[in-house]
Amino acid sequence: MTNENMILRVTDVAVHYGGVKAVDGVSFDLRQGEIRGLIGPNGAGKSTVIDAISGRHGLTRGTVRLAGQDITRCSVIDRRRRGLARSFQRTSIFPNMTVSAQIGLAAHKVGAEAPEQDARRVMDQLDLSGEADATAGSLGYGQQRRLDLALALVGRPIVLLLDEPMAGLSPQESADLASHLLKLTGDWGVSILLVEHDTDTLFSISNSVTVFELGRVIASGRPEEVRIEPRVREAYLGSAA
Ligand SMILES: Nc1ncnc2c1ncn2[C@@H]1O[C@H](COP(=O)(O)OP(=O)(O)OP(=O)(O)O)[C@@H](O)[C@H]1O
Ligand SMILES: [Mg+2]
Repeated sequence: MTNENMILRVTDVAVHYGGVKAVDGVSFDLRQGEIRGLIGPNGAGKSTVIDAISGRHGLTRGTVRLAGQDITRCSVIDRRRRGLARSFQRTSIFPNMTVSAQIGLAAHKVGAEAPEQDARRVMDQLDLSGEADATAGSLGYGQQRRLDLALALVGRPIVLLLDEPMAGLSPQESADLASHLLKLTGDWGVSILLVEHDTDTLFSISNSVTVFELGRVIASGRPEEVRIEPRVREAYLGSAA
């Protein structure tokens, strides 16, 4: 695989908070149309890495490249316009606004070329068209999570960063969201970095998995390889894995 196929390259990234090395020299790549799962115990640095890639906080060292370009010093909004999107979970939802208005507004905000058309395309893709005129607050939890995802998908992003999108969902709702994520990679060629504690779902849809412990990568590879690594089983998955 040549470097050009790597849509996202994270190289030697470190984020230190004073003496706390939240992330300390992490590297991984994301190929076009791939899902890479990130797992690890609480406090391992997964969210910090997502925040660092999305530009929410600066790096102590390291580089982030998107589609061949160094974006390490770009602002959050600049990264978003270049095609790097993340979901914000429920905090982004205005309960009294309709689903279509909210997605349309998000499309305007990211500077999508035809915002209304873009919003419709995203609603169709995520099976939200039937809820277009419903208020966000009236949606079920699983549908709200799809709305979160829809807000990240306007403006045709090329990479999605998702931090625990399945938290709080029932097994059925998780499976449904997982199948939408897989469909996005196939239909639109979107690449996804997925942090998720539901390891069964994560392993079932990821092309590759990276395991964090104490701010470092302890294993990385195809799901079936990573799953059987003794260090991974010890640190995170438990003997039942
Ligand atoms: N703003 C901050 N200031 C100081 N330390 C922080 C800050 N944010 C995170 N940390 C620390 O950085 C480390 C990594 O935290 P992070 O939230 O990235 O872990 P995580 O892998 O996402 O955990 P979880 O699975 O619980 O979500 C932890 O030790 C945490 O206490
Ligand atoms: Mg986290």
